[in-house]
Amino acid sequence: MRIPDYVKHESLKTWVAEMADLLKPDDVYWCDGSQEEYDRLCEELVEAGTFIRLNEEKRPNSFLARSDPSDVARVEDRTYICSRLKKDAGPTNNWMEPSEMKEILNGLMDGAMKGRTMYIIPFSMGPLGSDIAEIGIEITDSPYVVVNMKIMTRMGKEVFDVLGEDGSFIPCVHTNGAPLEPGQQDVSWPCNPDVKYIVHFPEERSIYSYGSGYGGNALLGKKCLALRIASTMARDEGWLAEHMLIMGVEEPSGEKTYVAAAFPSACGKTNFAMIVPPKAFQEKGWKVTTVGDDIAWIKPAEDGKLYAINPEAGYFGVAPGTSYNSNPSAMESIKENCIFTNVALTDEGDVWWEDMDGPKPAHAIDWRGNDWTPESETPAAHPNARFTAPAGQNPVIDEAWEDPKGVPIKAFVFGGRRSNTIPLVFQAFNWAYGVYLAATMGSEMTAAAFGKMGVVRRDPFAMLPFAGYHMGDYFNHWLSFGRKIPNPPRIFGVNWFRRDEEGNFVWPGFGENMRILEWIVKRSKGGRANGIESPIGWMPSHKDINWDGLEGFTKEDFYKAMSIDKSDWDKELLETDELFIKLYDRIPKEMMAIKALMLSGMWRSPDHWEMKGDPT
Ligand code: GTP
Ligand code: SPV
Ligand code: MN
Repeated sequence: MRIPDYVKHESLKTWVAEMADLLKPDDVYWCDGSQEEYDRLCEELVEAGTFIRLNEEKRPNSFLARSDPSDVARVEDRTYICSRLKKDAGPTNNWMEPSEMKEILNGLMDGAMKGRTMYIIPFSMGPLGSDIAEIGIEITDSPYVVVNMKIMTRMGKEVFDVLGEDGSFIPCVHTNGAPLEPGQQDVSWPCNPDVKYIVHFPEERSIYSYGSGYGGNALLGKKCLALRIASTMARDEGWLAEHMLIMGVEEPSGEKTYVAAAFPSACGKTNFAMIVPPKAFQEKGWKVTTVGDDIAWIKPAEDGKLYAINPEAGYFGVAPGTSYNSNPSAMESIKENCIFTNVALTDEGDVWWEDMDGPKPAHAIDWRGNDWTPESETPAAHPNARFTAPAGQNPVIDEAWEDPKGVPIKAFVFGGRRSNTIPLVFQAFNWAYGVYLAATMGSEMTAAAFGKMGVVRRDPFAMLPFAGYHMGDYFNHWLSFGRKIPNPPRIFGVNWFRRDEEGNFVWPGFGENMRILEWIVKRSKGGRANGIESPIGWMPSHKDINWDGLEGFTKEDFYKAMSIDKSDWDKELLETDELFIKLYDRIPKEMMAIKALMLSGMWRSPDHWEMKGDPT
């Protein structure tokens, strides 16, 4: 194995050599992260049939990949947290004893790269060389992973300069688990349709992924490193690694407030992170900018504030539903230099998916590679089809998005996909109660999440699939974290997804969410103006929201979106018991106390349950 002379890290070299011995690739290639390398690998992917080059005029320097139909999303049931003790992984994670798991992995990985090239990807999560950044080295036999990692992370040989001779890094091993025998014909999307393992060893901070080439299963810097491993580091070191977007909200006065928001997978983080304020807001001078759309690393600083960075460098966004109507900045971000996975291909050689702008194409090739017409019974794009786009192409990227110091966070927002019960917006009375609300958050299942579509599952902090340790300890970490900061950010709940009896959304959502965001920003600066007390938190009344330019949304509609029904909330409390019982051995006692307070508060003030008009 030839090692580039700029690699001076002995234990890294030893680890790579050991992995090569085990995985037995035909070749070992050290990625340098250059554009030339990216272009060459994309060309090779075209030759191999994995990539289709899109029409150079319509979608310059962009490619379409179609995955194996068995490999279309994260596999939560195959994802493991292998801490030494089972109780440290907690009841919400799959667990196996580390040495037992290593034996399985060693067996599977033995010769798994036969007939293929092993790529070594040096990458940084967060700006290269920044104090908050973490370095990872991913070994993979997937050139598709290499080119995606080039967009999603700061990837390149400069990482080795930062590492030096003994810097620390997180070793990440990925294989599609599809070795090639001599003479065997390759397929366009190699993977192992039957056996998949996504494994984390939190104590030794290492990651092993076998059998899948898709998204968070294979781009190991994202969910595996930046959330599962980073959340355990954050617990140990006193910071937060969260499934959150980060946005900057600039008022007409020029004052800027940064907000972080946690919504479960496919529940609108990318949309909200790139929100286009309604015309009336734009005319007055409101601006919203994006720092990140999926992951936030948040650290307390000397000044008592919390600073957040986006550890990623690109967007791996849900394609279906993305349009100039729903998310113009995302559409601008994906004009060129992108990779599309599992979307449809038009006859002009461009991409298409459900609910894109304009008429449906009369004919397309669907994500499985079959002919598709508007009469077809199956969707043209897979519901979890995604684009990989460089974040720098976002026209509303925040000027501080690469600032290694991060941006100061004033508010945390939590929201799931709930057709009932949860009102449009409410504010927690205090930090501990905010932690309770985030901990008990639920969401109706989507294509990106594992489970039965439409059924509510508890997804605490939108971190159920991503917490690298016991969820009860995670709640505790949030509680003690808040106690240590003098003026912690305010915490809010939102629900853009409430429906009426006919099943229609009661709130127009998307750009109109700006009206709610304005209230959140106002409230996050402190004070008790512009809000009324309800049994579940502070809420705006109709007059507290700016309605300029919104036609046809009445006061009655607003109170429908805001209504809180006692019997619904009784049910909600009962349902959260299930999670609390599950986590009982480590759940902070404050959570129980808050629940009791909530129950008593409810019974004490039954009048509050009718919020039909302005109380003042
Ligand atoms: P991951 O990348 O999977 O973590 O998810 P994400 O939270 O970034 O998901 P994304 O922004 O791609 O979610 C898209 C889905 O949310 C689409 O189905 C959108 O239609 C829907 N969505 C986003 N904003 C709104 C809204 O304000 N109202 C309604 N009703 N739907 C919305
Ligand atoms: C999510 O599922 O929350 C994602 C997509 O952001 S993936 O990276 O595939 O996990
Ligand atoms: Mn996500």
